[in-house]
Amino acid sequence: MNRVLAKKQSLGQFFTTNDFWLKDHVLKFIKSTKAEIAFDPFAGDGDLLRVAKKIGFKKIKGLDIDKNLKWEYNDSLLSIPKIKKSIIITNPPYLTNYSAKRKGVYEDVKKYFDICNYDDIYQLAIEKCLENEFGVMIIPETFINSKFPKHRLVSITIIEEQLFNDTENPVCVICFNGEEKNYEDVKVYKNEKFLGSLGFFEKMRKIPSKNTYVKFNSLKGQIALRAVDTTNPQRPISFMKPEEMDYDLTTIKHSSRLITLIELNATKDTIDKIIIYSNKALFDFRKKTSDVLLSPFKGNKKNGERRRRLDYLTARAILEEAHDFTQTGKLFPL
Ligand SMILES: C[S@@+](CC[C@H](N)C(=O)[O-])C[C@H]1O[C@@H](n2cnc3c(N)ncnc32)[C@H](O)[C@@H]1O
Repeated sequence: MNRVLAKKQSLGQFFTTNDFWLKDHVLKFIKSTKAEIAFDPFAGDGDLLRVAKKIGFKKIKGLDIDKNLKWEYNDSLLSIPKIKKSIIITNPPYLTNYSAKRKGVYEDVKKYFDICNYDDIYQLAIEKCLENEFGVMIIPETFINSKFPKHRLVSITIIEEQLFNDTENPVCVICFNGEEKNYEDVKVYKNEKFLGSLGFFEKMRKIPSKNTYVKFNSLKGQIALRAVDTTNPQRPISFMKPEEMDYDLTTIKHSSRLITLIELNATKDTIDKIIIYSNKALFDFRKKTSDVLLSPFKGNKKNGERRRRLDYLTARAILEEAHDFTQTGKLFPL
């Protein structure tokens, strides 16, 4: 990789060149803090600070580790100076441990992974930013399903529009203040729309009980799963008979995450019922949770909605439920 690209990757230099992230409720939150200084500790080209000026901030402050940029130098993943009456408005660098290694830039960022237990440096950035009372951060949407404590948050907003010109990373915006809250008091939005509390979503998670034999990526599997939405809204994630899958299933490996074959202990008749039940249960789950609990997948569908991936734990929980149901002999409830 050339040096310019390596620097872009290791410093996460993807700039927020448009302001789709500034939804009305985010703007309202910023104003409600009565902060006087907009502060970006990962300032880059200063795009977010330009937006801050536009919405009325008279004072701005930017820091960055890249000495070629015009800001004061600071390593904000190690510490962020306290600035009174400020609100942090930032988009920190994102880089997973795994992709740093894959892209050959791990040595540049090793010191950050050494001082924390996170697997992505954006989480270290949140930890440092939370030392300030108020903040708005644009971060990967995978944050929602991460274990990172979310008690200081006021809201989480999934942004479906494309924010960056040079990466399709699915993102969300978090707003935080100084108060510790219950998850029932943390609001979740998709774009402008309020969906429910974080507490509601946490209760909706499907957790497998592992009381039924379900084996993923088994070449003997009787159920095929396309675990990712296609760009065609008519062809979402679905369970099906192996012969219905337009993919060479003999290439399934232990590590396959997008298309898989699943083995269960069940007769052919029961398998057919499990497939029908699972698709209905998944449809119902997606509708009730507005897809918030499914992993975001790069690139949107043709209708502008975010593509999703069904993780195998949730898939297992759905299959267990379907399997249990077929044992009861009842009619489908959905
Ligand atoms: C994703 S860019 C965002 C820039 C800007 N906030 C925006 O949204 O356009 C992240 C910025 O953080 C800077 N950066 C990366 N690691 C840093 C560190 N440890 N301390 C301070 N800045 C850092 C990069 O140089 C880059 O400019």
